[in-house]
Amino acid sequence: MAQDKGCGASLCQCFFEYETPKILKIRSRKVGTVNRLIQAVIIAYVIGYVYVLKRGYQDTDSVLSSVTTKVKGIALTNSSDLGLRIWDVADYVIPPQEDSSFFVLTNLIITPNQTQTRCPEVPSPSSLCTSDSDCTKGFKDMRGNGVRTGKCVKYSDTIKTCEVLAWCPLEIDREPPEPPMLADAENFTVLIKNNIRYPKFNFNKRNILPHINKTYLTQCIYNATTDPDCPIFKLKDIVEGAKEDFQTMAVHGGVMGIQIRWDCDLDMPTSWCVPKYTFRRLDNKDPENTVAPGYNFRFAKYYKSGDDVETRTLIKGFGIRFDVMVFGKAGKFSIVPMLLNIGAGLALLGLVTVVCDWIVLTFMTKRNQYKVEKFSYVDEFKLLSQE
Ligand SMILES: *[C@@H]1O[C@H](CO)[C@@H](O)[C@H](O)[C@H]1NC(C)=O
Repeated sequence: MAQDKGCGASLCQCFFEYETPKILKIRSRKVGTVNRLIQAVIIAYVIGYVYVLKRGYQDTDSVLSSVTTKVKGIALTNSSDLGLRIWDVADYVIPPQEDSSFFVLTNLIITPNQTQTRCPEVPSPSSLCTSDSDCTKGFKDMRGNGVRTGKCVKYSDTIKTCEVLAWCPLEIDREPPEPPMLADAENFTVLIKNNIRYPKFNFNKRNILPHINKTYLTQCIYNATTDPDCPIFKLKDIVEGAKEDFQTMAVHGGVMGIQIRWDCDLDMPTSWCVPKYTFRRLDNKDPENTVAPGYNFRFAKYYKSGDDVETRTLIKGFGIRFDVMVFGKAGKFSIVPMLLNIGAGLALLGLVTVVCDWIVLTFMTKRNQYKVEKFSYVDEFKLLSQE
């Protein structure tokens, strides 16, 4: 019997040997169709989705960026506290410069001429009193405005409250004016300068594109359809781009996001790599929830009055903070991801055999004949008895 004795027999025989799997071909319309169908789906996925849509032949990098902003505009207010007053950039942008962000004051409550003296505390359950014994001297109410002097004094005709040592007169807690004081802020403009870099590909670009000249920059305003390249935005357009109303938002303030997306295919001309701007409101404006809406903070301007007493103007400022967020991904042809994706595609084709085998051996009416052809059994005991 000429039998394979394995590699123990002779080293020479073992070397000049080639092993190849035996292939069973099933000529069946049904199985053939299923096989080609699954192959077609996998090939379509690899070529169409992985290569064309997701550009699987490219290496990718994410963006590094820097943002600077400059707001321009003038507002006019006419209030009983301040009279006629002009507001320019130095008045309403607080602080003058920030990281990827800027704040524009849109509404305010002013408490002028505060000095360090004594005055009745603002009425609240803890500050109401009927006699001096209700007010502990030296007590500091952390939610109040000052240190108690130990006296119970008249706040209004009907109410008495504890007297405090504080910046007096105290601010009266009230709703911000409506319409907002700086309603003109809707027409302010902001120039956003954004430099980006894709370090892996040593690629730099900025959002003031090469074709923009100085004259265009002095008079353009961003508009998604007519001027998509202009880096100057009207604040009203930003807020309306997020489907919000500027004058309503300006009353209590809020936070807006300006998103700049740089998605670049660096295999294409670099002039195709341009920023896309989108806007959205970041603080949640829930109509159901009217507790503590918007965005506000307090600040003061200090000066010495004529008789050398330190005096301040307290401002509770409401406004909109604009956060500029830059993100994006660049891709460029590279051999390694390409080969990786080809490998993954070929491995997926191996799935076809598994699925077809399963169908043939489980669902076909002639599955038992197929099984006989597909599997050959070698039984150790039979072999022993033959010998
Ligand atoms: C903003 O400008 C437009 C057009 O110049 C003007 O009609 C509008 O009244 C201005 N808004 C405010 C609040 O002044």
